[in-house]
Amino acid sequence: MDQQRLKEKVAEAAFECVAAEHSDKLLLGIGTGTTAECFIRLLPQLKSRIEATVASSERSASLLSELGLPVVDLNSVGPLDVYIDGADEANSQLHLIKGGGAALTREKIVAAASKQFICIADVSKRVAVLGAFPLPVEVIPMARSHVARELHALGGQPVWREGVITDNQNLILDVHGMAIEDALEMEARINQITGVVCNGLFAARPADILLLGAPSGIERVLPPSQ
Ligand code: A5P
Repeated sequence: MDQQRLKEKVAEAAFECVAAEHSDKLLLGIGTGTTAECFIRLLPQLKSRIEATVASSERSASLLSELGLPVVDLNSVGPLDVYIDGADEANSQLHLIKGGGAALTREKIVAAASKQFICIADVSKRVAVLGAFPLPVEVIPMARSHVARELHALGGQPVWREGVITDNQNLILDVHGMAIEDALEMEARINQITGVVCNGLFAARPADILLLGAPSGIERVLPPSQ
């Protein structure tokens, strides 16, 4: 089974989960990326039960609108019922690296504002230790060089993702060469660098459920304490 088919399968599993476990008047947080897009394309089937969606990127908001789904500003609604999004890497604690699509800051905001976070990915995203995928860090443009030096001091090799401007008008540094054993600590340390808007580690607010699409079927992973 190719990777695209695995993404579609895992999106279908998340769709079934949302449809079965949540009642009507759904407030949905919607992520960004190719796997989230597979999920978005299923949502018209649930339209009568969706009160509103909040998107983590302009790209996802456009697709939701094209499909006739209501998209609102996060400030106009209370806590969201569930957030569905992909990941670039996920470990067994359901800590994630996200931001391959440069939407990490809004993704983190929507995840924080949601009662439940269902992460959907094909099985290739599962890792023992986070960091083989370069960690995206969103930075204020004038702080790019300063932040890069600080990230270097933390042991990483930051590379400016040239030509990319985020939805918040900022820049992205991708940090290579980090084996992140303690994601919670690293997330906090990077956030303390002046000029950093957000980093792509999702450990303070990890996923609640990780659905992994594999050729043998869907694997449902919960955090170790559950
Ligand atoms: C977007 O900024 C990312 O966080 C995506 O969720 C992540 O890159 C996964 O994308 P794919 O679903 O396209 O692999």
